[in-house]
Amino acid sequence: PKRVGVLISGRGSNMRALVERAQGYEVVVVASDKPDAAGLAWARERGIPTFALSPKEIGKPAYEAALDRALRECEVELIALAGYMRLLSDEFVANWRGRIVNIHPSLLPKYKGLHTHARAIEAGDRQAGCSVHLVTEELDGGEVLGRTEVPILPEDTPDTLAERVLAAEHELYPRVLSEFVSR
Ligand code: GAR
Repeated sequence: PKRVGVLISGRGSNMRALVERAQGYEVVVVASDKPDAAGLAWARERGIPTFALSPKEIGKPAYEAALDRALRECEVELIALAGYMRLLSDEFVANWRGRIVNIHPSLLPKYKGLHTHARAIEAGDRQAGCSVHLVTEELDGGEVLGRTEVPILPEDTPDTLAERVLAAEHELYPRVLSEFVSR
């Protein structure tokens, strides 16, 4: 199986889905820029190695160098961003070119960046969804590997829509990652 390192910043529900539904890959480390990310505790309880460091303390270049080192020490072959809310530098992306994937809560190329659900509702869209894509230097701009659509209902708020999309994310991400490692 391909050795995957998952990067999170918070709850980590996509990371959990990746761990629980792993096929053709295995999650060998969970890393976070937020040492108190809830997902880290979950990973530790399962005996998955974790790495946590705040860039605030040492600055972004030193943080990314340490992250890179930790991933390489774990012999990571592929990085999966899962609710990782920090931009990776161009240099980091170049060092892992073609080997970083991300899940984004919109139907890319629509609604790159933040507040995707509020923007989809505001625009009057009938469909929202999630996308798994390759990470390049362009924010949420790399090749789309898979998408799932969900309906936007008339009574939806950004929170109710986010919940529906998140359930779709948990199905999509492990499936696309399995396909990606076998292509
Ligand atoms: C997910 O909805 C993910 O798509 C989104 O954050 C949430 C993380 O939830 N990611 C982004 O917005 C990336 N810019 P999780 O921590 O429970 O997986």
